[in-house]
Amino acid sequence: MSARIIDGKKLSTAIKADVAERVAKLKQTHGIQAGLTVVLVGEDPASQVYVRNKGLACEAAGLKSDIIRLPANTTEAELLALITRLNQDSSVHGILVQLPLPAHLDEHKVIETIAPHKDVDGFHVSNAGMLMTGKPLFAPCTPYGVMKMLESENVALRGAEAVVVGASNIVGKPMAMLLLAAGATVTLCNSKTRDLAAQTRRADVLVAAVGRPGIITGDMVKPGAVVIDVGINRGADGKLCGDVDFASASEVASAITPVPGGVGPMTIAMLLVNTLEAAERSAN
Ligand code: GUN
Repeated sequence: MSARIIDGKKLSTAIKADVAERVAKLKQTHGIQAGLTVVLVGEDPASQVYVRNKGLACEAAGLKSDIIRLPANTTEAELLALITRLNQDSSVHGILVQLPLPAHLDEHKVIETIAPHKDVDGFHVSNAGMLMTGKPLFAPCTPYGVMKMLESENVALRGAEAVVVGASNIVGKPMAMLLLAAGATVTLCNSKTRDLAAQTRRADVLVAAVGRPGIITGDMVKPGAVVIDVGINRGADGKLCGDVDFASASEVASAITPVPGGVGPMTIAMLLVNTLEAAERSAN
């Protein structure tokens, strides 16, 4: 079998076009210019690329984008003061502090300082709690994007076996919650899972979010499964690759996301959706 490719680029383009329309409508009807402020501390090269791409995507959709770049030696007090100021600024609808932060800054404390109604990443404990209790204010962008991909492919989730590999706060845990809310029976695997293949082979929907190139091979995939690859890794050849060995897994799966061009573009699209929704809520 050769799997259908789930095209994240195409789907994200359609979502961004819809965001652009709603951004323009919000401006016309309420005079509100939706805006996202991204805070980047330090010089991490990957973060710089991500932040630039977020800014460009905002602008393309008509969202105001502000990128605040702070030096790596910024103190925690300075960063918290900035976030407090942004919380109070009514022209800022979304606040995103790019992670990872330099080691001397307490990531948890920084995120908890963001006002939950502006936390478009959905990382604040209040938003994590809302997601867990089934009433998310903001779903974290990557798992939210995965749900949109599954929806666009009409993947039946009620009663399905979903296995998520990787239990991070940013992807794995919220992914499990969203799948559970959609009626799937969810298994959340972590780095200590004893027999990973035994778990993944049960999956009708398999989500890999570990950050290890090619850890999921075709023999670990149930025939006909839908495979979602959240990993973005740099392979030994320098090329981008996912957590799934695409060549072998695509022989077994019914549908699969590529890397690049799969989940990656969806993450940014959902960030725009969350920011727009924050701005729309501010109108009501
Ligand atoms: N670093 C890597 N992914 C993300 C993300 O989704 N949000 C933030 N704030 N930082 C990240």
